[in-house]
Amino acid sequence: MKIILLGPPGAGKGTQAEVISNELKIPHISTGDILRESIRNKTSLGEEAKKIMDQGKLVSDEIILGIIKERVSKDDCKFGFLFDGFPRTIGQADGLKNLNINIDLVLEISLSDEVIISRMSGRRIHLSSGRSYHIEFNPPKVEGKDDLSGEDLIQRDDDKPETVLARLEVYKNQTNPLINYYQQLEKQSDLRFVKVNGANSPKEVSNEIFANIE
Ligand code: AP5
Repeated sequence: MKIILLGPPGAGKGTQAEVISNELKIPHISTGDILRESIRNKTSLGEEAKKIMDQGKLVSDEIILGIIKERVSKDDCKFGFLFDGFPRTIGQADGLKNLNINIDLVLEISLSDEVIISRMSGRRIHLSSGRSYHIEFNPPKVEGKDDLSGEDLIQRDDDKPETVLARLEVYKNQTNPLINYYQQLEKQSDLRFVKVNGANSPKEVSNEIFANIE
């Protein structure tokens, strides 16, 4: 199955992607995680991406499509995958179409700005895996430590309140039009578009998602 998870920053895409990927046994492809990995490895892509990400802006479609093309050519993508945070512009969605990749399901996780802002301040992540926690709503078993590796959790540089506001603005202007894009595509193809309520608990959101997958 080929799935796209769409939704504003902090809607819970990463949280749900982990559950879906484990359940369906398909790779979780997060362009944000791939970019953060490049930053951690101090590659030239990472250095370029960090400046853009710290301002809450989007990395160019050309770079992102290059990353995706390489990633989906790997063996583990043969039976499907889950995109988290991609596509994020009409240009990226068109680029995906041009790669002849037929998406089965687009899941939009919706959430209000107020809830997003409160979630971002409490988010902690495990950098190398991308696993995401929340100090109040989804705490790790041991404070400040990743459940699986026991390694330290960190706060993302782009979770500062002013950067979160910039990311929300970018989402509204550049990514929100993809909702209409995929709703139109649903009318002309086998693709399904489903909207779930991201304001519910993580478990309730997962249940709503799986009710639409099975
Ligand atoms: P990216 O890493 O993709 O960030 P994002 O889309 O802004 O989404 P987030 O990771 O912030 O949130 P999420 O929806 O995954 O929420 P999470 O599950 O963590 O992108 C970062 C940057 O990289 C971009 O700004 C851009 O610069 C660049 N980039 C990436 N992809 C790109 C692309 N395709 N094109 C161009 N540039 C790109 O949850 C958030 C918090 O809430 C957590 O603490 C979690 O524990 C908690 N939580 C989750 N669900 C619930 C719930 N139901 N109830 C209560 N708390 C919850």
